[in-house]
Amino acid sequence: MAEKKTFYITTPIYYPSDKLHIGHSYTTVAADAIARYKRMTGYDVYFLTGSDEHGQKIERKAKAKGITPKQYVDEIVASFQDLWKLMCISNDGFVRTTDDYHVKAVQKIFRKLYEQGDIYKSAYEGWYCTPCESFWLERQLKDGCCPDCGMPVEKVKEESYFFKMSKYAPRLIQYIKDHPDFIQPPARTNEMLNNFLLPGLEDLCVSRTSFTWGIPVDFDEKHVVYVWLDALSNYITKLGFYSDDDSMYKKYWPADVHLVGKEIVRFHTIIWPIMLMALGEPLPKQVFGHGWLILEGGKMSKSKGNVVDPVKLCNRYGVDAIRYFLLREVPFGSDGVFSNEALIYRINSDLANDLGNLLSRTVSMIDKYFGGVVPAPTCPVPEEDEAIIALADGLPEKVERYMTEFKAPEALESIWALIGACNKYIDVTAPWILAKDEAKKDRLATVMYNLAESLRIVGIFLQPYLPNTAPRLFEQLGVSGELTAYEARGFGKLPAGTRVHKGEALFPRIDVKKELEELEKENSASHAAEASASAAPAPKAEEAKDEEPQELIDFDTFCKVKMKTARVIDCKFVEKSKKLLQFTLDCGEARPRTILSGIRKWYSEPEKLIGRTVIIAANLAPRKIAGIESQGMILSSITDDGEDETLSMLTVMEPDSIPGGSEVG
Ligand code: MSP
Repeated sequence: MAEKKTFYITTPIYYPSDKLHIGHSYTTVAADAIARYKRMTGYDVYFLTGSDEHGQKIERKAKAKGITPKQYVDEIVASFQDLWKLMCISNDGFVRTTDDYHVKAVQKIFRKLYEQGDIYKSAYEGWYCTPCESFWLERQLKDGCCPDCGMPVEKVKEESYFFKMSKYAPRLIQYIKDHPDFIQPPARTNEMLNNFLLPGLEDLCVSRTSFTWGIPVDFDEKHVVYVWLDALSNYITKLGFYSDDDSMYKKYWPADVHLVGKEIVRFHTIIWPIMLMALGEPLPKQVFGHGWLILEGGKMSKSKGNVVDPVKLCNRYGVDAIRYFLLREVPFGSDGVFSNEALIYRINSDLANDLGNLLSRTVSMIDKYFGGVVPAPTCPVPEEDEAIIALADGLPEKVERYMTEFKAPEALESIWALIGACNKYIDVTAPWILAKDEAKKDRLATVMYNLAESLRIVGIFLQPYLPNTAPRLFEQLGVSGELTAYEARGFGKLPAGTRVHKGEALFPRIDVKKELEELEKENSASHAAEASASAAPAPKAEEAKDEEPQELIDFDTFCKVKMKTARVIDCKFVEKSKKLLQFTLDCGEARPRTILSGIRKWYSEPEKLIGRTVIIAANLAPRKIAGIESQGMILSSITDDGEDETLSMLTVMEPDSIPGGSEVG
């Protein structure tokens, strides 16, 4: 027997964050639908997901909770695995970067690159964004902050190993040009070439010494491997690369597709291929950068409460409804918007009305007119039947074409086109009228058969997307087992005589008004609970699961920050910056200080700040922002309700009695 063709698909490995939201589920659900579809069309699929457990961010969070990083990640990774189980994710492997085989293989990769001269030791001085775990050059910062996430960056100066990315850049540029399908959708190719590769690649800092939660460089143990080098290797270490048994690697590598969110395409199409080139290994066939699921009016955030919690959503509406929404609503490659209204609309219109009603009407009519047995189709009327038969016959090709390009929304649309045509077919053929005339019994039988057969074909193609619903549909139609795409080829494979079984509605209709009111009520209750929780005394470290980590410092460290009052002499917009205000401040020193602050959004009339007494951190090392030297930082308080950030500068209550330059402490 011919060997099956392999198909290797991966999701990114997730950071252990206790803030997993419905957006995070998107990559995994999309990859799962593709993996299931490929299995159904005869491929030997390996679908990998996992967790990215090292790095400074995790070390800090664990420390703040008073537990070890391993304890911290173990707990969260278990909750990920539960979520994937709940959402019917059919991954074949789950890699953890703390797994022994991974650690050993990464050490070997690092050593090989070092021994062949592609990694060398030097010193790094530059900026680091801990939330993104990325290094930035001064010129790449945006208003002094991380250009990706906008968070403040930290100055890093330490001995490091560097990876000679620059050596491989021309080869990678040529590779990308020769393989137009390598980065998808195509717009992302231009973004990578124009923004990163063509302006020139710097060598990459690939080790850190200022924290320990990482894979130690085995020949220089004070260094840990840079977390992205560690994480990207997962795609091959799980297959046994550099282990005693690399048969899986030989079988599945190169990956057919790495499915990743658009913000991490850069790591997958620059660092990863260069690593593989340096190792002398083949590159993945494709990196597909999908868009984000965003909330109406802005980013997704924990404080949105239950509506974006994937577990709560799945429990409330059912896993398949959520999978359907994610796969149908986010155009592959671009952003999609989540809202309760859109979700409920999809459930009512597509799932309950179009699909659910079609099944329940068909089964009821077969019950009523043919005693629950699918009749044989002996009386075709081509002008009535052709439309649905042609759609059903064409469906395998259409779905195949769309799924080859990873376009789940279009694949679903073509399935729904057949569902829609069947509903119309019922209206046109009016079986209840045919049933009144004994002479039309054969025609009625044909109509019933065509509907049942169309639904069987629909069910086959629903399997990758709605893995709980397809078996329920088959059960009602009296069709058994998981069906491959082959069973959908050629209209008429449903045997006449099949016994149907009327069952519950696939998707109960939701009362929109009542549901939205209830959600609103629950939302306000959860906001009220959050507000009262924040007014209550701080929970103990180990209970503070949802709080941002609070790193404790000792008194001496606190005293190192010199805070002073400062009187605003002048304040104006910084030209060419949408964020910055430039302050001139009397801090009781020989000369006034200049401080830049990214608070323009909240103070649109800077002249009104003149005369105020504010608080500054006075002994911060000066740094240039937008070409101007900023000599300290103005203190403000900021709060984020998930939609909007509100900021207020800290000021002195009795400014007349406190001159500029007075100590704060
Ligand atoms: N750990 C890295 C990946 C390393 S891969 C070698 C990482 N992890 S993550 O947890 O931050 O993100 C995992 C995936 O979730 C990414 O593909 C990311 O784009 C995706 N998403 C996170 N929020 C999302 C939305 N709101 N919408 C869609 N996808 C989102 O990055």
